[in-house]
Amino acid sequence: MLTIAGRAAVDRAGQTPVFVYDPAIVAARIARFRAAMPTVDLHYAIKANPHPGLLAAISPLVDGLDVASAGELGRALAVKPAGAISFAGPGKRDEELAAAIAAGATLNLESEGEASRALAIADRLGQRPRLAVRVNPDVELRGSGMKMGGRPSPFGIDAIRVPALVRHLIAAGADWRGFHLYAGSQALDAGAIADTQAATLVLAARLAEEAGAVPPLVNLGGGFGVPYFAGDRPLDVEVIGERLDAALAGRPAVLRDSRFAIELGRWLVAEAGVYLARVVDRKESGGETFLILDGGLHHQLAASGNFGTVVRRNYPIAVAHRMGEEATETVNVVGPLCTPLDRLGDRVALPRAEVGDLIAVFLAGAYGATASPSAFLGHPPAAEIVT
Ligand SMILES: Cc1ncc(COP(=O)(O)O)c(C=O)c1O
Repeated sequence: MLTIAGRAAVDRAGQTPVFVYDPAIVAARIARFRAAMPTVDLHYAIKANPHPGLLAAISPLVDGLDVASAGELGRALAVKPAGAISFAGPGKRDEELAAAIAAGATLNLESEGEASRALAIADRLGQRPRLAVRVNPDVELRGSGMKMGGRPSPFGIDAIRVPALVRHLIAAGADWRGFHLYAGSQALDAGAIADTQAATLVLAARLAEEAGAVPPLVNLGGGFGVPYFAGDRPLDVEVIGERLDAALAGRPAVLRDSRFAIELGRWLVAEAGVYLARVVDRKESGGETFLILDGGLHHQLAASGNFGTVVRRNYPIAVAHRMGEEATETVNVVGPLCTPLDRLGDRVALPRAEVGDLIAVFLAGAYGATASPSAFLGHPPAAEIVT
């Protein structure tokens, strides 16, 4: 039987479909991170899960919140001082730049054009803007599911052009906050992450030397992944911590007085969430069994394999009241949408489930409710509960 924070999932579910989040699991992840990497700051990238209740629980446990829109900025400002908030993402509109500058949040600049607009807006507002430069690194995160650096990119400013921009920002009177280097996401190879962090430190030092300025903060990115699929192994963060410690101890002199941060989304929250949906229909077709749920890709796009995966594979899935029981049949678990994409479990071995039973899809704490097309076909949105 599946229990969530000590209570049976079937008792918690109430209205379905529902996401249930357990902040105690996030707190345990944060404690593990702190033990492994005691000298670096930890930022939470709220795009992974911006639920206000969860955010309120996480905020006191992390040093910063990273946001990607004015909407997320508003949520972050409700729980964290502006000085601990940074805003990254391409295509920030003037209103978004103004909101961040007026609040005193740091903008991670994604282009020279954005830098000019930010300086002009700050001038108009009579405020000294806090500006960091997001670098499009000339290194790539090996083994990451989603690469965001080391190639032509809408994200960040090509490393070669960064020193001139930093000099320009400082000359213009901005409060230059340092560098943001984000190479990719969903990596499970600790060695690859450690290699990237070491290369990132070298790059940050080189850019600082060339700019002739010491970065107050170097955000080393994140990319810590979680094991979604059979055969995936959990990330060894302790290995990353040991290697990062060594890299920081031997860092170039220009970074001696800098602080360092790691920004994480899914590694902190994915395992703290479960998506619960009810079996509405059970049918046979062509010799296969289909469990048709009241929820699907419109709430949990990632589990359907349509959010950043090339080959569709099953997320961990269970019949909630039969958790741990032996599988007795192979079924397809699908949602109610009129598209073959709406499939949460493809030929998955499960104990028998009947109409009315609850199906649990795990690793639903990140990129679930807010990363799914909930308006598609007009079904109701999923409920969200924080335990
Ligand atoms: C700049 C930036 N920070 C943080 C994240 C969060 O990534 P994850 O949830 O995989 O840790 C992303 C994801 O795309 C990102 O683009």
